[in-house]
Amino acid sequence: MLLNSKTRPKFKFLTSWILATFRHASKKVDKNLLKQMEDDFQKLADSKSKSLLRRHLTKEIFDKLKTQTTPSYNSTLMHCISSGLCNHDSGVGLYAPDPEAYKVFADLFDPVIEDYHKCFRKTDKQPETAFGKGKDFENLDPDGNFIVSTRVRCGRALKGFPFNPCLTEEDYNKLQSEICAALKNLKGEYKGCYESLSTMDKCSQQKLIDDHLLFKEGDRFLEAAGASRFWPIGRGIYLNDAKNFVVWVNEEDHIRIISMEKGGDLGKVYDRMVGGVEALGKQLQFNRDERLGFLTFCPTNLGTSIRASVHIKLPKLMNDPEELKELSERYRLQIRGTSGEHSEAKDGVHDISNQRRLGLTEYEIIKEMHTGIKGLIEAEKKAKSC
Ligand code: ARG
Repeated sequence: MLLNSKTRPKFKFLTSWILATFRHASKKVDKNLLKQMEDDFQKLADSKSKSLLRRHLTKEIFDKLKTQTTPSYNSTLMHCISSGLCNHDSGVGLYAPDPEAYKVFADLFDPVIEDYHKCFRKTDKQPETAFGKGKDFENLDPDGNFIVSTRVRCGRALKGFPFNPCLTEEDYNKLQSEICAALKNLKGEYKGCYESLSTMDKCSQQKLIDDHLLFKEGDRFLEAAGASRFWPIGRGIYLNDAKNFVVWVNEEDHIRIISMEKGGDLGKVYDRMVGGVEALGKQLQFNRDERLGFLTFCPTNLGTSIRASVHIKLPKLMNDPEELKELSERYRLQIRGTSGEHSEAKDGVHDISNQRRLGLTEYEIIKEMHTGIKGLIEAEKKAKSC
């Protein structure tokens, strides 16, 4: 039933109804929810899905976790896996409905985290935050032959709030007003304006999406994870005057802090993001776990939560998928389409970034990405045209 697009809305409705009904009810997992989980688990197990969820959710782990709930929010295993059950084409398929889920459902999260972040074992610990200095990273493309633009972002959650599937309408509004109050105090190059999605007209919204400044609406992976409830309440975007520093409020994470500009000056873009994070961190309390680092809704963003990317044209390598795959694995890079995740590449422009975000300091993450992109450009220069 899950995979069939005609029946998917019915499934979604049923699941969210069941989840909503039992969210604040007893700590026992309801039998209807259990039955639905069992059926959908079996469908995933029987499918050819390549998601990390399918790989690591063994029958044994499923049986152990299916009746567990988190102490403060009563989140169930279904909250964690509904996106992957609904979307068999997920790469990962797992989200944490609240911070405690990483512990209660650790038998599932830990192997997924280890697999995604390449060898971060359950005995490993995220190092202390160390941003270092962007000036150590020279411009990746001073002559402007390959890189269209560079972007660095990180995510933050505020202490005292759960993640999307457990947030109430009031929580969304509260988060938005607390974050906005902090944004209003930003000075210098960070000075700008916040606009709530509820008051933004469709035309300006589309323009911001086209300029890669704003998130898209209706991501089916997030929606199935229960992250689009009360949309667009509490969601919005802050832009500085130069439009090279952006803050997203209540999209996937409570806060996404982004720095971007044309060209390949990674160090400068990174420093701008760091300055923004530090200014906000003086006013807001971020949720950081001793072992997992900064806590985020999706396990792919734990640790530093940093994704440093370039929009880049590598025409020769793009014609040699085998070589490109080999290089991206060697340098631990992730390749996406032009409009980000689950999108196609337009005009040969790809979005390439660091894959792992956990297990290294912020500085090391940027260094890994810098080395990787440099390596790709070298390989492009050497590649023969066909
Ligand atoms: N849940 C989606 C998948 O598994 C996205 C995973 C990573 N991306 C993200 N924006 N958190 O494919």
